[in-house]
Amino acid sequence: MDLGLHDARVLVAASSRGLGAATARRFCLEGAKVAVNGREAARLEATARAIRDVSADEVIAVVGDVTEPGAANRIVGQVVGQWGGLDVLVTNAGGPPPGTFESTPLEAWERAFQLSVMSAVRLIHAALPYLRQSDRAAILTIASLTVKQPLDNLILSNSVRMGVTGLTKSLANELGPEGIRVNSILPGWTLTERVDELMTSRAQQGGITLDEAVAAQAADIPLKRMADPAEFANAAVFLCSPAAGYIHGAMVPVDGGAIRATL
Ligand SMILES: NC(=O)c1ccc[n+]([C@@H]2O[C@H](COP(=O)([O-])OP(=O)(O)OC[C@H]3O[C@@H](n4cnc5c(N)ncnc54)[C@H](OP(=O)(O)O)[C@@H]3O)[C@@H](O)[C@H]2O)c1
Repeated sequence: MDLGLHDARVLVAASSRGLGAATARRFCLEGAKVAVNGREAARLEATARAIRDVSADEVIAVVGDVTEPGAANRIVGQVVGQWGGLDVLVTNAGGPPPGTFESTPLEAWERAFQLSVMSAVRLIHAALPYLRQSDRAAILTIASLTVKQPLDNLILSNSVRMGVTGLTKSLANELGPEGIRVNSILPGWTLTERVDELMTSRAQQGGITLDEAVAAQAADIPLKRMADPAEFANAAVFLCSPAAGYIHGAMVPVDGGAIRATL
């Protein structure tokens, strides 16, 4: 299927590794021009180079911390300066730290809000004037299955990410009449570098192998495995493409069936 992304100008925030990097790579394989972003310049450049190796299309690297108030305007400005516009924005950032209500200090709530919600708000705010000029404009936010099924010891993710889904649904209502599609993906356990590091640490602590640690975590997932980041990326790129033209305001789980609720 032709997704209709050839030459689309795409910004994927927080994409020097993990879900963002897999998504950026997939966009390039579909013929899009992609801007990758992250805080660490060396890692970001390495990711941009690796993507260029598999795709002849244009990849630019824009360093920036999406939690910094001025960063979104600067990042979007750099992308638009390069390509003269923007068609697709994927918002993303690192995840808030784990913890229970008791173990989480009050200041951590404000930081989590800045990380998960305000990073998306600022990026969308900066990108909107350019998305309005595009005839294939799409916004994708990355949330988590925790918005549908809270997980133990993740009080910040369970709580604050609901702001991202509220934002996504509200923007779908506000921007739909202008033809700007807005969707969200709710990823489940996906074997990114961060999750690999977490499982490696669990394996070492428990005296088991990495595969055993991953299998133990995946035991409750109906598909009995974690996702490959490429599986997330396939869904993300499809949702942002003109091929998904009537999918709007959707919260799409990519979770192997981990969310047990019917709605
Ligand atoms: N993987 C999963 O199983 C899973 C499941 C549900 C939800 N999620 C959520 O999905 C998001 C991505 O997860 P992931 O597993 O891909 O994480 P990851 O492997 O830790 O990758 C995060 C990426 O974001 C960049 N980043 C982090 N904070 C940033 C910031 N403030 N500004 C700009 N770039 C930033 C990192 O690069 P630098 O460190 O160089 O900035 C890195 O490239 C997270 O919010 C995570 O909680 C993941």
